[in-house]
Amino acid sequence: MPRTHSIAAIPGDGIGPEVIDAGLEVLDAVAARDGRFSLKVVRYDWGSDYYRKHGQFLPADAMAWLRTADAIYFGAVGDPNIPDHVTLWGLRLPICQGLDQYANVRPTRILPGITSPLRDVGTGDLDWVIVRENSEGEYAGQGGRSHRGFPEEVATEVAIFTRRGVERIMRFAFALADSRAAKHLTVVTKSNAQRYGMVFWDEIASLVSRDFPHVLWERELVDAMTMRMVRRPKTIDTVVATNLHADILSDLAAALAGSLGIAPTGNIDPERRSPSMFEPIHGSAFDITGQGIANPVGAFWTASMMLEHLGEKEAAGVVMRAVEHVCAAGVMTPDLGGKATTAEVTRAVCEAVRGLNR
Ligand code: IPM
Ligand code: MG
Repeated sequence: MPRTHSIAAIPGDGIGPEVIDAGLEVLDAVAARDGRFSLKVVRYDWGSDYYRKHGQFLPADAMAWLRTADAIYFGAVGDPNIPDHVTLWGLRLPICQGLDQYANVRPTRILPGITSPLRDVGTGDLDWVIVRENSEGEYAGQGGRSHRGFPEEVATEVAIFTRRGVERIMRFAFALADSRAAKHLTVVTKSNAQRYGMVFWDEIASLVSRDFPHVLWERELVDAMTMRMVRRPKTIDTVVATNLHADILSDLAAALAGSLGIAPTGNIDPERRSPSMFEPIHGSAFDITGQGIANPVGAFWTASMMLEHLGEKEAAGVVMRAVEHVCAAGVMTPDLGGKATTAEVTRAVCEAVRGLNR
């Protein structure tokens, strides 16, 4: 009897449904090839259209439904007619925070056939994982506005750092660095200017480091980190940064690896109390929605991360090898300089999944 993993799919807005459908096709292909597991997919139509109909992004029992899944496969949320902070705080953040998916993991590599905008940097030269604190910091939701419309109007946006929150993300990042060949961790900070939260962040990094004697670690200020990513990319391996710092650094990382269209992410609950959520980081991309040219590679890489989390290591590897094979052959969407459609890339990856040697 094959084992079954249940997946909650939330395609969402814009190109989300296009790339999630493509990803589900590839997942079907790899499950069929493997034969030892099957996937039971439940689709939820939550997103901006749902919000227009129901006045909320999520039904009241959404978290209970999601908790019945082993993993969540998420497309994108965002709508040209709804402010971005409403969609974000309506759908994605309530899931990440509600399920306490506190570690956001963002791997970056230059896939074969893809050109980095960096001179002399090619496939194999850049292999990073950015760990983003995903539950507090600048996205904690603390703040407010008073005296609206008056000259004395005031707005606050408070970044929150708790001992528990910082310690758990540091432990996760050190353990991840320890598991990789380079065993190297860069702790991104801004403790020269932010003397409370970021000094606290540095202190906890130093405390946690004692439990990981094999990891070589260092601190880097976030502004200097942007330069280092461009100028000395080969000196970086695993990176941990606050919610906002890592948000910014991961866009830079994706651009340096060739395109935002290929970058995946996992919102992980490392303790596995709740399902983790996997999503391509590109967003809803309304400018190209419905044209059939969305790059599905981000969703495929995301699917591979999800399989790995579900314990299907071999299948995860097959998906990545198939994606690399197809990229190397030049079957790419226009954002990568190719001419292929979403459907053509998907077909090529499914064929590669079926045809790869064992
Ligand atoms: C990301 C995105 C989101 C974020 C946006 C869509 C609010 O940029 O996942 O990196 O800032 O968290
Ligand atoms: Mg971002």
